[in-house]
Amino acid sequence: MDDIAIARALHVVGVVVWIGGVSFVTTIVLPAVRRTKDPQERVSFFERIEGKFAWQARATTVLVGATGFYITAVWDLWGRFNSVSFWWMHAMVLVWALFTVMLFIAEPLFLHRWYLRNAKERPNSTFRLIEKLHRILLVISILTVLGAVAGSHGMSF
Ligand code: HEM
Repeated sequence: MDDIAIARALHVVGVVVWIGGVSFVTTIVLPAVRRTKDPQERVSFFERIEGKFAWQARATTVLVGATGFYITAVWDLWGRFNSVSFWWMHAMVLVWALFTVMLFIAEPLFLHRWYLRNAKERPNSTFRLIEKLHRILLVISILTVLGAVAGSHGMSF
């Protein structure tokens, strides 16, 4: 059972670093970027910060996914995915899948180029859209954490 306890601890550490980072970028960095007047400076400031954070987010996404699937496999929790009362299990996989697609597929393939082009041509609307998407992701992530902690400690929905 020690292996599950360790996997669970690593799972939670991954979630704290990852979702904490999303929260910091969404509530502190992006509003600061918005207040930067010079569009060129805005683009390079955001690039520097988000670029570093993206690597942290990639590493923690892998850690959270690996430990999450490990616990699910060892405890054979797959049946939970057939029940809506375990919506928080679906939510965890959904949040993980969204970030995995964004960070490993969309960003390197086209999102980065899209961002560079639009941030120069339409800086205001582009940053407004980026902020909105980050806020949506943050809200979904926090609801998932609430559901996962309450659900895995016995609360039934
Ligand atoms: C591939 C994706 C994921 C899988 C398969 C997964 C699986 C699991 C499993 C099996 C548990 C233990 C449930 C129990 O004890 O009954 C758990 C706990 C938890 N997960 Fe995930 N998870 C994933 C992603 C995420 C994500 C993205 C988040 C955050 C947004 C998250 C947050 C949590 C939290 C907060 C707990 C509760 C830990 C505790 O209080 O002990 N998980 N997860």
